[in-house]
Amino acid sequence: MNLDERNLLYRGKAKDVYQTSHPKQVLVKFRDDITAGDGEKKEVMSLKGYYNSLISAKLFELLEDAGIKTQYIDLPEPGLMLSHKLNMIPLEVITRNIAAGSLLRKYPFQEGQLFDPPIIQMDYKNDEYHDPMLNEDIILALELASVQDLETIREITLQINAVLKNFLEDRGLIFPDFKIEFGRDSDGNIVLGDEISPDTCRFWDSETCDILDKDLFRKGESGVIEAYQKVANIILDEEDKERWNLNF
Ligand code: TMP
Ligand code: ASP
Repeated sequence: MNLDERNLLYRGKAKDVYQTSHPKQVLVKFRDDITAGDGEKKEVMSLKGYYNSLISAKLFELLEDAGIKTQYIDLPEPGLMLSHKLNMIPLEVITRNIAAGSLLRKYPFQEGQLFDPPIIQMDYKNDEYHDPMLNEDIILALELASVQDLETIREITLQINAVLKNFLEDRGLIFPDFKIEFGRDSDGNIVLGDEISPDTCRFWDSETCDILDKDLFRKGESGVIEAYQKVANIILDEEDKERWNLNF
């Protein structure tokens, strides 16, 4: 599909959003750019957008089947997602089932410590301020969301965690934590947006404990795209591969 630059609405660090001829629908182009450290470390990794779009599409479909509203409409071709147009809320909603990453750097948790119920953390999506962690008072003072919105976001996030964790564990993946973003649709409903992929989640192989996500890139290790492909292979069924004409 040819995307006309005149229809570009938003260019993020890893995705572009294009207006379609339908006023309430956009096309999201998953790019091969991979970044860390608020965009300071940056590379192009061939096929990254391809795998992330497929993994996101499959997980959005899974959530839709569980009754959770998402931006997803269709993946007409790998790399390109047809989505409902949302007014995004600049919150990074992080759910933690296992202590890892920045939580271990900032607080005296044990590595691998389990959280049940999970910890939900909200960061301000703002590179200039380095995505600082928020609390409810700051979110309200910044007018990012209302008390009711936050309650809704929390409730949907816990549902999403339960659905994804079950699915991934059944397929041999540990799901330590993930980040999601929400937006408002044209009726004002809070809807899950953005992506759910190895760029935005931690996935560990339950047998080998191998890291299968962007932490490999953050740490400067090799095998990043191989790990993303492995996650796609685990998450996608044979019928998904036929539907999208995949040959990996
Ligand atoms: P953290 O442990 O580095 O705070 O990351 C928590 C989760 O959020 C992890 O699954 C990776 C994801 N994440 C993003 O999606 N974007 C980011 O900018 C960062 C720092 C983390
Ligand atoms: N969002 C961060 C960045 O752009 C990347 C990360 O660590 O996930 O650079």
